[in-house]
Amino acid sequence: RPNRPQNQSVPSRGQNPDSSLSLSTRRELYERDFPVYKQPVEVGCFSLDSERRFFNDGRQMRYYVEPDRSPNFDLRDGYKDRFIKRDDSVKEKLDHMLRWILANRSKLSARGTTASSCDLDIDFVTWRGHLTKLLTAPYETREGWQLAVTRFRGTLYISEVETEAARRDQENRTERHEEMMYWGYKFEQYTCADTVHGQPDPGGVLNTNEAFCTVVQTRLADHRLLFSGEVDCRDKDPNAPAAPACYIELKTSAEICTPKQRSNFHRFKLLKWWAQSFLPGVPRVVAGFRDEEGVVVAMETFPISKISHLIKNEHNCWKPTVCMNFCSDFLSFVKHIATEDNPSVVYLLSWEPRRDVTFSVHRDSPYCFLPHWFVEEMTS
Ligand code: A3P
Ligand code: MG
Ligand code: MG
Repeated sequence: RPNRPQNQSVPSRGQNPDSSLSLSTRRELYERDFPVYKQPVEVGCFSLDSERRFFNDGRQMRYYVEPDRSPNFDLRDGYKDRFIKRDDSVKEKLDHMLRWILANRSKLSARGTTASSCDLDIDFVTWRGHLTKLLTAPYETREGWQLAVTRFRGTLYISEVETEAARRDQENRTERHEEMMYWGYKFEQYTCADTVHGQPDPGGVLNTNEAFCTVVQTRLADHRLLFSGEVDCRDKDPNAPAAPACYIELKTSAEICTPKQRSNFHRFKLLKWWAQSFLPGVPRVVAGFRDEEGVVVAMETFPISKISHLIKNEHNCWKPTVCMNFCSDFLSFVKHIATEDNPSVVYLLSWEPRRDVTFSVHRDSPYCFLPHWFVEEMTS
């Protein structure tokens, strides 16, 4: 709940000096009943091709092909000579989602036709990955975040801003870490085919520009959400349930050899896996456990609905209800502070572990992220 004293006006610009307009991430504050979270509905999808071009269709969808029980995939293969890495210095912000919204506006039109009705009938537009960071914040001890928010025609758009610390970490990555980031994508190449009856092609070039994204609509408490997230692959069985229930999230993780490693896996990794897939209603994670040399030595399927039971034996572990209640309260806080409806105003919400969420307001600044092409087409 926002700690806002009576009669205090929202500062119009610059840092919030006394931090009285802030939101706590302390876990105890969010241990109440699980909030309403409607079953997410897929309202569309889009694809990004090998050159990161947008298509309003599912052409980049892939199909999961179940491997042997101990498949011995070499995740290092091709790193040097068959890898095209997406340029992550290009900040895409919400652009792909905004393109999707313009192409599918009729599906999202408002209920009423009165001037006061919200144009999209949606409170928040964002990436799934940004919401994952909100869900895990009460348990995050290492990485903070900054989220830029703009209110435009009644809808709040949320787009991440890279923190200084994240930029430094990115510049100082070791060669080993750089290579290990490839391993997760390589695992996808070993387990996914491009067509429903096809086979994976681990000898091909791996290009991380390519992506298939689902767009889902749902509601958290009284917040109507529209967000998009990358989906790794789907069940190829023609009798599989409709999206998003047919989707599969692929993950790699270090093999677990000691009780301490198992405990850490439950406490940290399963939290991230759960949050990422629970949000869009993806029902399972298929994990490849790899050794130090990057060879997958075991496979395991984790149904998302069973993860909260798996962790219950862990002392002082994370709780799904804390994650969801914090996210809900964060969105209420945003609605409360981001009052000016103006595409060139950004409310910047900043958080560092062990601190409260604070914000500052910026007008016509480099933080502005709604592009002219979007603002103009939505206004006409
Ligand atoms: P793993 O998660 O198996 O390590 P996703 O699992 O979300 O589909 O992402 C696919 C892969 O992208 C990851 O596989 C990892 O290799 C890489 N990746 C994703 N997010 C990353 C991050 N924040 N830092 C480093 N690598 C990341
Ligand atoms: Mg993915
Ligand atoms: Mg994955």
